[in-house]
Amino acid sequence: MPLLEISGVSVAFGGVRALDEVTLSVEEGQVLGLIGPNGAGKTTLLNVASRFVSPQRGDLRLGNRSLLRYRPDQLVGLGVARSFQIPQLFSGLSVLDHLRLAAERSTRQRDSAERVAREVLEELELGEVAASFPHLLPSAVQKRVDLARAVAARPRLLLLDEPAAGLGAEERVSFARWLREFRRRQGCAVILVEHDVELVAGCSDRVVVLDFGRIIASGSPEAVRRDPAVLQAYLGVANGAGA
Ligand SMILES: Nc1ncnc2c1ncn2[C@@H]1O[C@H](COP(=O)(O)OP(=O)(O)OP(=O)(O)O)[C@@H](O)[C@H]1O
Ligand SMILES: [Mg+2]
Repeated sequence: MPLLEISGVSVAFGGVRALDEVTLSVEEGQVLGLIGPNGAGKTTLLNVASRFVSPQRGDLRLGNRSLLRYRPDQLVGLGVARSFQIPQLFSGLSVLDHLRLAAERSTRQRDSAERVAREVLEELELGEVAASFPHLLPSAVQKRVDLARAVAARPRLLLLDEPAAGLGAEERVSFARWLREFRRRQGCAVILVEHDVELVAGCSDRVVVLDFGRIIASGSPEAVRRDPAVLQAYLGVANGAGA
């Protein structure tokens, strides 16, 4: 049984079809790369999976539970955590407080929450800013805090919305290294939304491509990169010809 199963999900905002009959699943421990041009529906898909957006049609299952019965704040207790395209952090809480709260809400044990929060601080090299308020930090560090908060919830399924956006080349490499190591160590399933196709290919077991709310390709990173529909969506050329 897949860990997450999204079936026939459609979301419209007024006349815009953000998702159109999307079906996909994520296996336990799998990294699924989700790519697609701007406005393709990637964030909307993560919003559906984390219950921020309710689909007009379709179902959403985590193991044998329909997630449609749950509120977004209940998902962390079910083992689902996410990061945001634009970090959503509290200006009045320190970096360590963010991590501690996330860990507390998932483990419900104060002392071990403290330990988990400190481990994640180390793991994501945020020790030096533990006492800082996130809105005073550079945006790349804010992104890392937002990621760390999701990781501190010790999820079974981690939803990452462009975690490497705005990072320099070196930071991207270290993010990719961290992600590969994290999934190996934690056995956590991940949906990785990213525009950097190289990064996605290097970290994902399988890649799904969205365009105008529809899945236009899915498969191994190599197969997807050669797919004519993907070349068309990204480059406006079929079969790589005429570029
Ligand atoms: N809350 C909303 N209200 C109205 N339209 C929305 C809303 N959220 C998304 N949309 C529209 O739905 C479509 C999909 O948006 P979405 O943010 O999911 O795309 P995306 O693939 O994440 O794009 P990007 O790569 O730019 O982040 C777009 O046309 C967008 O304008
Ligand atoms: Mg987006």
